[in-house]
Formats: sequence, structure tokens, C-alpha cells
Amino acid sequence: MGLLSSITDFFALDIGTTAIRVVQLRGSGDTRSLVRYGSIAVDASTTQADSAAKQNQLMEALKKVIHDSKISTRNVVVGIPSNKMFTTVVDIDRVPPKELAKSIKYQADQYIPTSVAESKIDHILLGPSPIHKDKDEVLLASVSNRFSETRLDLLESIGLNVLAMEPDAFALSRSLIPAGSQEAIMILDMGANSTDLILQYKDAPRLVRSIPSGGNNLLKSAQQNLGVDEKQAMQFVYKFGLIENKLEGQVYKALISTVDSLVFEIEKSIKFFSTRYTNIPIRRIVVTGRASILPDFPVYLVNKVNTSVEIGNAWQNVSYPKSSYNDLMAVSNQYAVAAGLAERKL
Ligand SMILES: Nc1ncnc2c1ncn2[C@@H]1O[C@H](COP(=O)(O)OP(=O)(O)OP(=O)(O)O)[C@@H](O)[C@H]1O
Ligand SMILES: [Mg+2]
Repeated sequence: MGLLSSITDFFALDIGTTAIRVVQLRGSGDTRSLVRYGSIAVDASTTQADSAAKQNQLMEALKKVIHDSKISTRNVVVGIPSNKMFTTVVDIDRVPPKELAKSIKYQADQYIPTSVAESKIDHILLGPSPIHKDKDEVLLASVSNRFSETRLDLLESIGLNVLAMEPDAFALSRSLIPAGSQEAIMILDMGANSTDLILQYKDAPRLVRSIPSGGNNLLKSAQQNLGVDEKQAMQFVYKFGLIENKLEGQVYKALISTVDSLVFEIEKSIKFFSTRYTNIPIRRIVVTGRASILPDFPVYLVNKVNTSVEIGNAWQNVSYPKSSYNDLMAVSNQYAVAAGLAERKL
């Protein structure tokens, strides 16, 4: 590669709670073609704990999935899980664009819960505040140095060249929402222990949250309320879900309070959005993540929040051979983060 040419070859890495996923695309334009993708299941303790033994397991799993998926580059863009990020939207006094970074640096400790000295902080100017006419609205995101440095060291120690770390929320909106969309759209990534919620409007995230409720909470509710083991719980939850007339409504009854507490958080987020952006309807909710296959969840949500709900397609901006269509659709709910990271313009 020439000294002055930019790096266009990289793969995307999503280290999720229960699986690691990789995606490599070719090309640098708006529609890139799929070269490689793959995943490996991991125990939640491997990705969530940071003991030396767990870090070693994580390294081995990373090496295996990169090798088995035939990734052909060491350059990587890696996601930062929403539950490791703190993200907030604040209104700050308008300053000339050149002075914004400095102004935010001085004010950041008012807004972020962690010590400024021990965090990496970034911001995006969203535009004029919808509620204060002489203020600007800014999205602030921070991650602890401890987390980002530990991840970076781990990836470098297995020979990877980390080009960027990007919050999962940004990757999700890149893969699931058409670029340039002017609508207000919600994304729900229903994972293992949490559901990430992103409310995007006019091409920028206006609210990012990690709600501590995901597929594992559904499985636990089923285990407790139906008196079944984990494996059976998995079958009941994802076969019958919220279908009321299956098994005399037993599975529905076992799950509904867990689902309702998630729906409550979704409603709260919609209310928060509508107090800032009055009269901007949220047109649709796009769901992804493996817990989103919960039967009848979309229709339940439609009735509760009165917005259309659709299943996200992680591959909508990617080109691939027609013959791969069925395989890719079958795993689409697992790859929205990795696909979005891979679509990033460096
Ligand atoms: N075939 C399946 N295999 C594993 N989990 C499944 C399956 N079908 C549904 N699920 C549910 O999906 C959840 C995992 O979802 P997903 O793989 O999207 O999470 P993750 O990416 O590992 O975690 P996160 O994004 O929260 O860090 C599990 O808790 C389980 O309840
Ligand atoms: Mg995930």
C-alpha cells in the first residue's frame, strides 16, 4: 500500500455478551460488497469479566472467529457496547464552532458521571436546541479509559491494528436507518442482558440508552414462572412468546410483566423525546438483536406505543450474491452492529 493512500481494508468486530461477530466488506463507496462474515458463541462471563483468565478466553475466541471467518486484514474497527458508554444530550450556550471543543471540555464534568480525567469524551453538535433559542444541542459520549485501554491492549496483543472504536449505537443507526433520513425513528437492539435504545431524528441520535433488560430476563421469567430449566425456557420463550392462545396463555403470562417493564422504558423514552421535539411523531421502531424474535412482540409493541414496528435488515446497505440471501436473512438480527461498523467511512 502506498504511503499516502488511505486504509480501505478493515473488518468490523462486535464483541457482544453471548457472541463475537465479524464482518468484512469490500469497496469504499455507499454500497460495499460483503466479503466475509462469521460469529462465535461465547459464555457471557468471557466477555463481561476482566480477569486474566477471562481475557485469555476472549483472545482465543477472537483468534478463532477471525481465522474461521477467513478475515484477510489485521485492520479492525471495534464497537463499544452501549452499557459501557455514557451518552447524553445537553443544551449548552452557543459558542463559535471553533470554540466548541474547548467549551465542552470545561463543562463536561457537570454532565458525565465519571471523572473527566479518567474518561475519553467525544461530542457531536446536533444543531440549535429545540427548547432554548440561544443554546445549541450537543450529544456527549464518554467511555472510561480503563475499558477502552484494556480492549485496545487486548486487540493489539493478538496482532490487530485498531483503526477506530465506535459506540454500537452509531453502528446500529448506520446499518438500519437509511442515510439522510429526516424522520424520527427508534432502534431497539434486544440482546442478552440489555436492550439498546436509539432515538434518531434528522440523521443524528437524539437519545441513546441501554435498558438493563434483554433475552436473559425473558428466560429467567420463564424458568421461574413455568418451573422449567434453561433449555426448555428457551424453547417456550422463542416458540410461543406473547402469542396469547398458545399453551392456554401460560407463556404469555410468564413473560408479560418482564416485557411490560421494557415497554415502560420505551414509552418513557418516547415521552422524553416528545417533550424536547414537540409535534415530531416517531414514525417507526426498528427491532434487531436475537431476543427480538420473541413471537408477537412487534404486534404487542404496536398496540402499546401506536407506531409501526419493523424487523431491521442488517444487510440493507450491503451487496451480496443472490444465492446468499436466505443464509444472510437468517442471521440478520445478529449482525446489525458489525455491519454498521463495517460500513463506516474512515
Ligand atoms: N438461537 C439463539 N441462540 C442464542 N440466543 C438466542 C437465540 N434465539 C434467541 N436468543 C436470545 O437472544 C439473546 C442474545 O441476543 P444477542 O445475540 O443479540 O445478544 P448479544 O449480541 O450477545 O448481547 P448484547 O448485544 O446484549 O451484548 C439471548 O439472551 C437469548 O435469550
Ligand atoms: Mg449484540
